[in-house]
Amino acid sequence: MQEKQSIHGAWANRWIFILAATGSAVGLGNIWKFPYITGENGGGAFVLMYLFCILLVGVPIMMAEVFIGRRSRQSPINAMRDLAIESGRSPNWSLVGIMGVLAGFMIFSFYSVVAGWVLHYIALMGSGDMVGVGVEQAGEIFNGLLADWQTLLIWHTVFVVMVIAVVAGGVNKGLERATRIMMPALFVLLLVMLGYSMSTDGFAQGFDFLFHFDPSELSGEAVLVALGHAFFTLSLGMGSIMAYGSYMPKKAKIGSTVLTIAAMDTIVALIAGLAIFPIVFANSMDPGAGPGLMFVTLPVAFGQMPGGQIFGFLFFVLVGVAAWTSAISLIEPAAAFMVEKFGLKRLPACIILGLLVWGLGITCLGAFNFMSDFTLFGKNMFDLLDYATANIMLPLGGIFIAVFAGWFVKQHASKEELGLSDGVYKLWYVLVRFVAPIAVGIVFCLNL
Ligand code: PHE
Repeated sequence: MQEKQSIHGAWANRWIFILAATGSAVGLGNIWKFPYITGENGGGAFVLMYLFCILLVGVPIMMAEVFIGRRSRQSPINAMRDLAIESGRSPNWSLVGIMGVLAGFMIFSFYSVVAGWVLHYIALMGSGDMVGVGVEQAGEIFNGLLADWQTLLIWHTVFVVMVIAVVAGGVNKGLERATRIMMPALFVLLLVMLGYSMSTDGFAQGFDFLFHFDPSELSGEAVLVALGHAFFTLSLGMGSIMAYGSYMPKKAKIGSTVLTIAAMDTIVALIAGLAIFPIVFANSMDPGAGPGLMFVTLPVAFGQMPGGQIFGFLFFVLVGVAAWTSAISLIEPAAAFMVEKFGLKRLPACIILGLLVWGLGITCLGAFNFMSDFTLFGKNMFDLLDYATANIMLPLGGIFIAVFAGWFVKQHASKEELGLSDGVYKLWYVLVRFVAPIAVGIVFCLNL
């Protein structure tokens, strides 16, 4: 078969793909969401479930997404369709790609609001206003921000523009360079935080909270959250990784590449947890405090440490960058599709997309103030979009991708594209055919 090329470009080499995909995976999910949902769901037992989900469900599905993308070299919607046709199946498999694009919009809208909080905190930390604040005061500052819709709107808008500017320029240029510099820097700063938290009184308690396994703490809801988060944190089930895979060099091995990405993502999440929980316990805060956890604990910790103003500032800069590289990947599948389908240039395609996510995002930031009374299914818009995507749409998209890759794509195609040894291929095949769909199915049914 003649090798296909993507009309959108290609990563320079395997490492760029790894960094870009890690940039997509490592984001607010790791630093903001993982610690607070772990706190809400009781700690160690939840973390263990999450690790299982990453390994048994996340990794095989990520491999499926990468190979589907790379084989067709198109946006997820067209990739699913073309690969289905190649295997003599219904072109309607493209619906999975469409649901993914929709999920991307929905995630983006609340993601951008949280990224806006991060941008605001960059300014707060840099100005020195947070130096020496106590827990209570930090809580008040955070709640004050949530109530102030104008400020939220400004930061949300800034973030949308930042993301759209990059996606409009194509993935290769700005994104590649930013990822290369920022990802290692983020990592170094996380280690600094870890070092700091190890020196606080709460470290042992924080460590215990994360890694102490008590099965009685596992609820069906917690397992669903762990599963959903595995998809969210690895950017799976909605096409981001598939789109990035479509720019991946042919020579690169998919198996080891995917394992590297999943490992980096997991390590960052665990370090974030190890950085945050000791501070929580050292200050007798509530680990189940919810979405505000990071925004209250970290300023307090930075406000007390030597050089905290500059470190705190840098830390939030890097959280912002992590969010930025992830948000780019939320839009990329839709942007690539619009270019393919309507022959649009990137810029107009991205402006349309930007307006859509900006508008939807306003309903999420309003959830904390002018729209706080508005609920659907008992949730405000922010919680609803988070819940519907992470706990329903991504796992559902993931099942479809797994079933598609395992049952509908011709075996010679997956075998050829994945390039695994026979034994490892068989393992992947069993995981993607049976384990992943059944596991997700059971968790779904239990929660109905
Ligand atoms: N993986 C990102 C994070 O953890 C979020 C994300 C989800 C990005 C889905 C792209 C697609 O923050």
